[in-house]
Amino acid sequence: MNTTTNTVLITGGSAGIGLEIAKLLAATGNTVIITGRDQVRLDKALTQLNGATGILSDVSKEADVEALVAILTRDFPALNLVINNAGRALLYNIADSEGAFDIAQDEMLTNYLAVIRLNEKLLPVLKAQPEAAIVNVSSVVAFVPGSLATYSASKAALHSYTQSLRVALSRSSSVKVFELMPPLVDTEFSAPINGSTGIAPSVVAQDFVEALANDTYEIRVGNTQTIYELYLQSPDTALQVMQPAA
Ligand SMILES: NC(=O)c1ccc[n+]([C@@H]2O[C@H](COP(=O)([O-])OP(=O)(O)OC[C@H]3O[C@@H](n4cnc5c(N)ncnc54)[C@H](OP(=O)(O)O)[C@@H]3O)[C@@H](O)[C@H]2O)c1
Repeated sequence: MNTTTNTVLITGGSAGIGLEIAKLLAATGNTVIITGRDQVRLDKALTQLNGATGILSDVSKEADVEALVAILTRDFPALNLVINNAGRALLYNIADSEGAFDIAQDEMLTNYLAVIRLNEKLLPVLKAQPEAAIVNVSSVVAFVPGSLATYSASKAALHSYTQSLRVALSRSSSVKVFELMPPLVDTEFSAPINGSTGIAPSVVAQDFVEALANDTYEIRVGNTQTIYELYLQSPDTALQVMQPAA
């Protein structure tokens, strides 16, 4: 896919992986729109993004998504790349059952259902473009669960949906479907799970843009590829490897 003249929406583009992708794309001739829930963070991010637009919008809130889609269709009719990057994870012990349902519901809404809703609403715009793509950001835990149990399950759901969407859209349209699967990345998001030992978000962004250019649809960044190969050889061993020390 062309990586230089797109009109790109990045949900959760004000920090971490989303911001690094926004920086690369904004610097290489793309029109970039980022979203987030905090205006101050959005404004700060925009100072690092030449000519980008920030829109305050929470992917988990239907009214926010309606308003976002209205702005996009009115002001950015050439929108041809949607990166579903915003995510939510809460570290807790599923063996202590209190709160598990509420947390899982919250994670499923942001990481899975919200992606389906936004894609549904933006697909008519994408289908009207000569070249278009959806990118869903899942994780290494889409294959094998790690310490964030119900978060892992939400990313496994996103992975399954992404595979089905890719097949369905390839039959009925030219919209491409990518899945970005980072390993542990050093961002604010991963701080509760030793994220400082992870790779830099700029590395994820670089690998992503290369994969986009090559039409590599399942983008297994860094250690994700190693865990994926281990999982194919021995799902049990991969599961053990992904567990935190007791
Ligand atoms: N970091 C890792 O180790 C890692 C590994 C694998 C996959 N991932 C995935 O990568 C994606 C990005 O993670 P990250 O590490 O870059 O996180 P991050 O550094 O915490 O950044 C998250 C971004 O999303 C925004 N955001 C959060 N919730 C949102 C919502 N409901 N609606 C709109 N924007 C929202 C945040 O801004 P506001 O808080 O101001 O809204 C921020 O801009 C997530 O889907 C995550 O699951 C991360």
